[in-house]
Amino acid sequence: MKVAVIGGNGQLGSDVVRVFKERGDDVHPLTHAEIELENQDSIQGCLKSLEPAVVVNTAAMHHVEQCEQQPEKAFAVNAIGVRKLALVTKEMGATLIHVSTDYVFDGEKGRPYVEADAPLPLNVYGNSKLSGEQFVRTINDKHFVLRTSAIYGTQPCRAKGGRNFVELMLKLGRERGTVRVVNNEVVSPTPTIQIAAQIYELSRCDDYGLYHGTAEGDCSWYDFAREIFRAAGMRVDVQVAGPNEFPAKVPRPKYSVLENRGLKRLGLNRFTEWQEGLQQYLNQSAAVAS
Ligand SMILES: NC(=O)c1ccc[n+]([C@@H]2O[C@H](COP(=O)([O-])OP(=O)(O)OC[C@H]3O[C@@H](n4cnc5c(N)ncnc54)[C@H](OP(=O)(O)O)[C@@H]3O)[C@@H](O)[C@H]2O)c1
Repeated sequence: MKVAVIGGNGQLGSDVVRVFKERGDDVHPLTHAEIELENQDSIQGCLKSLEPAVVVNTAAMHHVEQCEQQPEKAFAVNAIGVRKLALVTKEMGATLIHVSTDYVFDGEKGRPYVEADAPLPLNVYGNSKLSGEQFVRTINDKHFVLRTSAIYGTQPCRAKGGRNFVELMLKLGRERGTVRVVNNEVVSPTPTIQIAAQIYELSRCDDYGLYHGTAEGDCSWYDFAREIFRAAGMRVDVQVAGPNEFPAKVPRPKYSVLENRGLKRLGLNRFTEWQEGLQQYLNQSAAVAS
């Protein structure tokens, strides 16, 4: 199958490329230098020359603070840009698999969100991603919108730069022997390799629609840090950071846990518990490093 991956050199995109390649597909990673979501001619020129059966869009403007400072730009990429992509893929007859976020919810539910729950984003990023989802769902019938959460992978996140949370904790733990982490935000930390495997499964079926796709279970960032050191066999003192120690500049959902109800109904859920995903990641990065 011919597959184009937009954001193909990103944290998630590079694992998507890897998984589809390993399973024998004809994969075309597209970097920002090759395709610009804000420009319909760029999307059209790039995709029409390839004629992929499936387009996976992992690209987004997703630095939450930058989105808040530049709302026009966030909507130009995450909403209007995605609309352009939906129009081009529809015209080509291609399936569009689009990655979205838990930040479409306000985090007030107190129980895992299912696909049928009404979104209510708290910030520009979440609003722009929700708008992008809606364009995809209304324009191209052959779509999958996959909402995921707190992702980490072996390739660094290009938008946020530096290390992912796991690598940052390992570095700070090694250097300082103690870390302070907030426990007032609950998520499902999800490794990109599992999202990529899930996207592959979706590309093989025609149960189009909106899906939640995150690791099973949930934890605060504090719990996550403790588990990172336990799984890595490191003795590090993990302390709860005070409420004003790392003040959020932009409102974020406090509890954005998603239930993969749609995937489970179809017997398609490929995610493990978050602790198992973390162990797989640590094994994978140790293997990469050795
Ligand atoms: N990070 C999280 O915790 C999280 C949580 C839930 C959902 N998500 C979603 O997961 C997806 C992937 O995130 P990631 O961490 O893999 O991101 P990433 O590493 O920053 O990669 C994003 C890719 O998109 C490209 N890109 C950005 N703007 C573009 C544009 N206007 N046109 C074309 N390409 C563009 C980037 O290229 P350049 O870097 O060269 O600009 C990069 O290759 C995003 O859709 C995000 O909303 C992330």
